[in-house]
Amino acid sequence: MKLAQNILLSLPPEVAHNVAISGLAGLGRLPGPIEPLSGRKVDFLGHELSNPIGLAAGLDKDAQAVLGLAKVGFGFVEVGTVTPKPQPGNPKPRLFRLKEHAALINRMGFNNQGVEAMAGRLERVRNSGRLDKTLVGINLGKNKDTPLEGATEDYLIGMRRMHSLADYFTLNLSSPNTPGLRQLQHGDALAELLGRVKEAQQTLANGRAAVPILLKVAPDLDDEDIESISTQLVQSELEGLIATNTTLARTAVRGHVHAEEVGGLSGAPLTGKSAEVVRKFRARLPLDMPIVGVGGVSCPESAREMFTAGASVLQIYTSFIYKGPKLVQELTNDSLL
Ligand SMILES: Cc1cc2nc3c(=O)[nH]c(=O)nc-3n(C[C@H](O)[C@H](O)[C@H](O)COP(=O)(O)O)c2cc1C
Repeated sequence: MKLAQNILLSLPPEVAHNVAISGLAGLGRLPGPIEPLSGRKVDFLGHELSNPIGLAAGLDKDAQAVLGLAKVGFGFVEVGTVTPKPQPGNPKPRLFRLKEHAALINRMGFNNQGVEAMAGRLERVRNSGRLDKTLVGINLGKNKDTPLEGATEDYLIGMRRMHSLADYFTLNLSSPNTPGLRQLQHGDALAELLGRVKEAQQTLANGRAAVPILLKVAPDLDDEDIESISTQLVQSELEGLIATNTTLARTAVRGHVHAEEVGGLSGAPLTGKSAEVVRKFRARLPLDMPIVGVGGVSCPESAREMFTAGASVLQIYTSFIYKGPKLVQELTNDSLL
């Protein structure tokens, strides 16, 4: 396993990414049970998870490797970000390793195959009956060429097409790599979006249990932003929050050869910042509203920091790239988590 990890890390980052996704998709095709690792059980969005460690959005953007990722043992897996239409994302190179900081900078720009391709794959996965113990969330975004005023419709397209396939939806308003997207986290734009999305959620549920909706926020928010987003989450009765996405800040990696690359920074330099955002939201949101803590969780200590800040469950991305599946075991085995 360590050898495979070292080989992956010797390849250019995006090549390694594609090889890893193919490998995980292959793992999912092998026969055998698919079960989350046993750890601390936790209630999340009306389900009991076998462990509180999830995969963050962006690794399996097109739901190509859901079964393989479930086999790794995650308690839940978030796929996407998916946009209504396929789009190529930004020109390459767009993913950079900052190994010395256990960090990445990416400006992928929502490269993905679109809602239809994802829906087809998830239908096959659901119909296989092999995925009944791992929760699958779908992270929704808007196409680059959709004007901000029309963004809500892009989120609704994803919800309508995939509401029978998702255990929850995430509204991604926090990627730094889609121009203007983060503006939707504020004021009237957020109120309008949450209002319409909630209305659609109830219509789609048609009397049955509604698919929960979570909002994913950036770490680069000031106290006023956090206050007003919290108020809107409560007012609109959204089911949860994911904090945080990648940061535009570079203080922690200044001087690194890739530090000035445009994009979002993730991994170890984000731990304190994301935990602080979680702590501030936790102080303002009702206790029964779950917060998914994500950003720089890479070991039992950083996982504990996130839980102490008030996270209900955790997600990882960058540390999974550097450490591989053994990290999921390490985190779920830790008796204090
Ligand atoms: C290469 C890369 C691509 C990402 N793509 C997405 C994405 O499509 N949607 C999203 O909500 N977050 C995306 N993220 C952000 C992660 O889900 C996560 O919020 C962030 O990286 C912080 O967690 P980490 O420090 O464990 O990586 C991406 C992160 C990376 C490194």
